[in-house]
This record gives sequence, C-alpha cells and structure tokens, in this order.
Amino acid sequence: MSVVRIELPHCTYDVLIEPGALTRLGEVVRACAPHKRCGLLADPAVAQPWGELARQSLVRAGYGVAQVALEPGEKHKTLAAVERIYGALAEARLERRSPLIALGGGVTGDTVGFVAATWLRGVPFVQCPTTLLAMVDASVGGKVGVNLPAGKNLVGAFYQPVAVVIDPRVLGTLPARELGCGLAESIKHGVLGDPALLDLIERRMSELRGRDPQALAELVHRNVVVKAGVVMRDERESGERAHLNLGHTFAHAIEATMGYGELLHGEAVGLGLIAAAELAHRTGLCGAPLVARLRALVAAAGLPLTAALPDDEVLWAAMQRDKKVADDRLRFVLPEREGRVRMRDDLSRADVSAAWRAIRA
Ligand code: GLY
Repeated sequence: MSVVRIELPHCTYDVLIEPGALTRLGEVVRACAPHKRCGLLADPAVAQPWGELARQSLVRAGYGVAQVALEPGEKHKTLAAVERIYGALAEARLERRSPLIALGGGVTGDTVGFVAATWLRGVPFVQCPTTLLAMVDASVGGKVGVNLPAGKNLVGAFYQPVAVVIDPRVLGTLPARELGCGLAESIKHGVLGDPALLDLIERRMSELRGRDPQALAELVHRNVVVKAGVVMRDERESGERAHLNLGHTFAHAIEATMGYGELLHGEAVGLGLIAAAELAHRTGLCGAPLVARLRALVAAAGLPLTAALPDDEVLWAAMQRDKKVADDRLRFVLPEREGRVRMRDDLSRADVSAAWRAIRA
C-alpha cells in the first residue's frame, strides 16, 4: 500500500493506492467524513463488480448508501446532469455532512466534484477513480467542473476531495485505448517532473499494458507524487501548475476541431506531447534525442503518432480560443530536458505550423 499526503494551506488529504483498496473504502470514508448516510455516484459502466464492492464496503462501515447512476460520457458532463444529480440527492435526503463518493473516470470525478462543491454550499467528497487517466491526473488536485456548449470545463471550481482511493485492480477491465490515454498523461508527468518515471514506463511497458497490478500501482504512485508536488506548490494555477498543460494546447485544438470522440483525450495528449517536443527542438530548446524518445514512448503506449488534422488556419483559430490564452498570447509549455519544462509565449506561427506538420497524417 502507498499513501501520498497532499498538504495545502486550508486542507490535508491522503491518496491511498493499493490493489484491493475498494474493499476498504468504507473505513477510509468513515475516518474523514463520518455520517449516517452517503451518496455513491457511479458511472454504470463500472458499477459491476466494482460499484457493488464499494457499496458493500460503505454498508459495512455503517453508511446508508444512496446510489445515483450517472449518464456515461463527456456529452453528459453538463449543467443539466448536475441539476439531475441535485434532484436525486434531495430525494435521498442527503445532508451537509453526508459525503459523496465519485466512482468512475474523469467525467464522473469532475461532475461529482462540482456537485459536491455546490450542493448545500459544499459537502465532503471522495474520489474513487476507475480509469488510469483519472488515477494519475484528474482525481488529484481539486479541479472540478462541467462543459458548456461554448467550451470544455468553462464552469468549475478548485474543490479538494477529503480522500482519494485508488484500486489498480479495476484497470483489469479497462479498455486498451483508455489505458493508453492514462499512459499519455503519465509520459507527460515524467517529462515535466520525473525522469525516473519515464525510465519506469519504458522498462515496464509490457507489464503495464498487460495490467500487472503491482506495475500499475508503482506507476500510479510515481504519477501522484509528481502531481501532488505541483498542486502543493501552486494549487490555483498561478504559476507552476500550468506546466501540467504540457501538450494540451495542441491536444485541445485537436479535440475541438476533429470533434470530441474522434480521438480520446489521452490520444490527443500523446500527439500534443510530440508536437510540443518538435516545437521545442525547432526553437533550440531541446535536442533531437528527447523528441525521438517521446515519439518512441507514445508509440510503445499504443497511441497514434499522427492524425488527419484539419488545415493550419482551423487549428490556429482553435488554439486562439483555448482558455489557456493569456493577454491574447498563446502560451506553450515546452520540454527542455527530461524532468524540466519551460513556458514560452513568443513563438512564431511558422514554428507552430511545423509542429503541426510533424503529427499530420
Ligand atoms: N489536469 C491538470 C491539472 O490538474 O491542473
């Protein structure tokens, strides 16, 4: 078992990583949010058998469990879904001290987290991520929110969970494409803050893709340590936390222009990492070996190396609309060497176009 503690000025919580952790969910929730009742909000795709394991553990710990089934998928990460959940919580008579447990991937965690931040002006919530992407990134650090027709994650809050419970066994039933998406965010964390994490991914790739629970637990642990460090130093993204956007300026433009669902988010991030490395190399920030290493890692994770991208004009316009534009300047996080990145907002359109060419099919 490993525990990573996140200490912020206003709260402290633990991320528990252990094969079998779901069977201990009830005791973990009771230790940080004791009450008579709780809400278990789950994506039905993970409800069996993991939802039942979680429910039984909560019952053993003395909770009356109100179960709420969420509609799966990014298209349900909306204010309408949030309103429907408020209705279910009201009907179940959940109170201000009743914790909410989010069991699912990033969409579930982000939506339930936003509900928790606003229902009765804020109730305790526990993240139980069931995808690799949510385990290594979305469940840690307190970014919660939903999409609007105008863009992704435009409504939200920084609202920290009271605990994160990660059971790598659930990854045994995760589709291969989804596993690859989590590997993309893991490669990102290695590039921006932990060269040994890149070594681990390279060395143990076949065990990771073969769902070896110990290899996955080690991977998740190292990722959470990187993410926790960044969040503890800059919870509200006034500086270093923006480094977590490595590859995302490209990825968001890919998703926005190719349609959400064509490529999964992690697949777009894999492409974005290659484009960012190409851009860094072209502008003299990093050497060719780093670009080649990243390409090889993305390929070994089973992620695409190219995509049928639209024209530059379309991509450029999408980049300008990204919410990471500051003072009308596009800001890129670029790799300098393994474990170190740098922010740049002075890049030419020609350089950016060359980066797009490097990943265009
Ligand atoms: N996923 C990026 C962040 O948490 O800041």
